[in-house]
Amino acid sequence: MNRIRMGFSPDLGIDLGTANTEVFVKGRGVVLQEPSVVAMDQGTGEMIAVGHQAQQMIGRAPSHVQAAHPLKDGVVAHFDATRAMLKHFINQSGHHRPGSRPRVVIGVPTDVTGVEKLAVKEAVASAGARECLLVEEPMAAALGAGLPVREPVGNMIVDVGGGTCEVAILSLDGIVSATSRRIAGNEMDEAIVRHVRRTYNMMIGQRTAEAVKVAIGSAFPLDQEETMEVRGRDLVAGLPKTLTLTATEIQQALAGLVNKIVATIRAGLEAAPPELAADIMDRGLVITGGGALLRNFDRLVSAETGIPVFRTVDPLLTVVQGTGLVLEDHRHLEVLRRRFR
Ligand SMILES: Nc1ncnc2c1ncn2[C@@H]1O[C@H](COP(=O)(O)OP(=O)(O)OP(=O)(O)O)[C@@H](O)[C@H]1O
Ligand SMILES: [Mg+2]
Repeated sequence: MNRIRMGFSPDLGIDLGTANTEVFVKGRGVVLQEPSVVAMDQGTGEMIAVGHQAQQMIGRAPSHVQAAHPLKDGVVAHFDATRAMLKHFINQSGHHRPGSRPRVVIGVPTDVTGVEKLAVKEAVASAGARECLLVEEPMAAALGAGLPVREPVGNMIVDVGGGTCEVAILSLDGIVSATSRRIAGNEMDEAIVRHVRRTYNMMIGQRTAEAVKVAIGSAFPLDQEETMEVRGRDLVAGLPKTLTLTATEIQQALAGLVNKIVATIRAGLEAAPPELAADIMDRGLVITGGGALLRNFDRLVSAETGIPVFRTVDPLLTVVQGTGLVLEDHRHLEVLRRRFR
């Protein structure tokens, strides 16, 4: 009846991430994947650009424009900017009639506070949703990865995103234990910036550092050396300078951080009840999130934990695909309604 009154309004699944936001439209699949970035006019408070376009402005905008990530460590840090961004993405994803109000299932980290949950719900509501259901990101990730979360077996999922690394064990439709640490892809970029500054007295931008990580970064030494040229500013002469970085030095610069993520995974395993731990030893664990794309990360985790490690097919889309599966599952929607009201 609702649909008739309000016009066609497809339900949406959203992964509102620190680094990227993805939107799934029921019946259509993933329709949007954009950086979680907003550029606002500081004076008027007006939104100037969103997503890819706003990302281009980071570090390049005039002083009255602020281009920034409105989420930090997986949660809403700037409410107005998050709301404006969500509204834009929701509008962009829908072929809704004007005034139609979709139902939204949206992922949140497991350690999110009550206030943070409310901020997400309010942002979604003010972006035009008629109902907003929150799902824990590891649950969405496990569903998106195709793990049998309903069965009485231990499933382990590790999501390394931009802001957070979440390690969770799931069984019988619920999260048995979860650990979330605010170290992930962004910190890797910062480690590369620090390495270049300390070693070469040169300042590179965060986006350059990210490009280095994606191109030649790895968690384990590579079989063959690779290099990449970067441009930055010489801190002594104050002038632009070009430098060639090697995969070996980047692997070493990332090692401390990667080891912390591995320690979090080991702690997650140690926290598992014995029966579930035994299941995981046999069945392996699943890694996902953009950080899981760091080369050889799966090999390192497997070597350090002694269990098989599988990476999801498309780690950047696993959570949003899971929110899409929740949308299609009436029983799960009911569970979420009861739990987060
Ligand atoms: N090929 C790659 N190698 C290494 N890191 C990568 C690669 N591709 C993407 N990343 C990193 O993945 C991170 C983004 O992943 P993702 O989109 O899963 O995060 P998010 O969901 O936005 O963040 P969070 O879940 O922490 O809120 C970024 O730090 C990005 O640099
Ligand atoms: Mg994420």
